[in-house]
Amino acid sequence: MYFFPSLPFIQKFLLLVIIFSNNISNVLGQTVNIANYIQTSNNLSTLRQLLSYPGLIDLFTLLNSPSTGVEKLTLFAPTNDAFISSGLDLTNGAFVSNLLKYHTVPDQEILSKDLTPILVINTLLNDSSLVRLPNGGQVLYITKSFQGDITINNGNSNTPAKVIQVDIICTNGVIHLIDSVIVPPLSLIDTANNLGLTQFLNAFTNANLLSNVNTSIGMTIFVPTNDAFNRPNILSMGSTELNSLLKLHVINGTSIYEIKDGLNIESSSPGKNLHFIVKNDGLNNTIYVNNGKVEKSDVLLQNGVMYIIDNVILPLENNVDDKKNSFNSDYIANHTRDKKLIIGTVLGGICGGIVISLFSCMLYKWYRAQKNTKSITTSSSNNKT
Ligand SMILES: *[C@@H]1O[C@H](CO)[C@@H](O)[C@H](O)[C@H]1NC(C)=O
Ligand SMILES: *[C@@H]1O[C@H](CO)[C@@H](O)[C@H](O)[C@H]1NC(C)=O
Ligand SMILES: *[C@@H]1O[C@H](CO)[C@@H](O)[C@H](O)[C@H]1NC(C)=O
Ligand SMILES: *[C@@H]1O[C@H](CO)[C@@H](O)[C@H](O)[C@H]1NC(C)=O
Ligand SMILES: *[C@@H]1O[C@H](CO)[C@@H](O)[C@H](O)[C@H]1NC(C)=O
Repeated sequence: MYFFPSLPFIQKFLLLVIIFSNNISNVLGQTVNIANYIQTSNNLSTLRQLLSYPGLIDLFTLLNSPSTGVEKLTLFAPTNDAFISSGLDLTNGAFVSNLLKYHTVPDQEILSKDLTPILVINTLLNDSSLVRLPNGGQVLYITKSFQGDITINNGNSNTPAKVIQVDIICTNGVIHLIDSVIVPPLSLIDTANNLGLTQFLNAFTNANLLSNVNTSIGMTIFVPTNDAFNRPNILSMGSTELNSLLKLHVINGTSIYEIKDGLNIESSSPGKNLHFIVKNDGLNNTIYVNNGKVEKSDVLLQNGVMYIIDNVILPLENNVDDKKNSFNSDYIANHTRDKKLIIGTVLGGICGGIVISLFSCMLYKWYRAQKNTKSITTSSSNNKT
């Protein structure tokens, strides 16, 4: 009797074990791959439908791959609501394929805890009609705020995509749910048109530079606002002079998504450098480039990254004269103040050093004098005994 407990009990016990282990694996998530998860999630039925397009068989196969150890993926998965609110026409398979590749990071499982304040990372999107970058696929520009909110730059929209559910861990990678479909970056010309940067388009056309910078492979471009171009001496320049001035606004072959303080790099105008200063007021970084100040950072392009600035950039050696032309923004003021501060600190240090040395000398002399008096007193008292 003891050794043969009733069958119903065993069944119940087994059932409990199954339910329990299922819950555990759901919590840890390690039971299904990314494609399986998409197939079973109510919130991802639009994504599931899109992945069944014939043109998406490669992407589906990748998401359906077994765990490959190190080569895990990260998928930023737009919810059904995200697809509805995007208003995008999702009937074209080639378009959808590129769109979803832009949501997929190959070879990396990026968990929310791994995110730094700014992460720029290559995706699978590498169609040469949409992307002209030297190193791999188009990038996602991901930011994580101090409060832990995660957002992703989205086309030319001022509203980034938000991650609304993090870390759905699958056997072959991780899924993060997002509230918007992320639109891949446009060409430089389309982006400038969308942002109303008409004077930039006119000036680069007049300088015979526009199609060059629109199609070059990987670059950083500093685009002055329309107001910045409204200076008589720029509007009246001939195309050769303008060409050499505007080449100063381009770093050719390199996309710099995170500008570091003190960076000094050659522009596409040979021998002319761009010098960067990054100031942090505790909340925001302000970036200065030569005589200009960055007003909008990290506008992604098909072939690199754009920064919108408040001034037409001038070569560094002209900066002193430029001040008289009132060309300069805060840069000169800040820069001069910095120099003064450095000189002040160095001079202060030297003077302080001299004063301390003199004082030490005096102190030492006084100490020696005291010691001598004492030893005389001591020796004389010794003599007495
Ligand atoms: C997923 O869908 C469920 C209903 O099926 C809903 O309650 C939940 O809020 C959704 N989650 C997200 C992140 O949209
Ligand atoms: C794009 O990426 C795929 C793999 O995802 C690769 O096979 C192909 O060669 C790449 N194409 C270009 C132009 O880099
Ligand atoms: C700019 O580049 C895009 C993307 O390659 C291309 O489709 C467009 O025709 C180019 N525009 C000009 C004026 O070169
Ligand atoms: C950038 O480099 C490419 C390749 O060397 C060159 O063809 C192009 O003219 C350069 N563009 C600029 C603006 O210097
Ligand atoms: C500084 O950053 C905060 C938070 O991102 C933003 O709301 C504010 O407008 C920024 N201030 C300036 C002067 O750029």
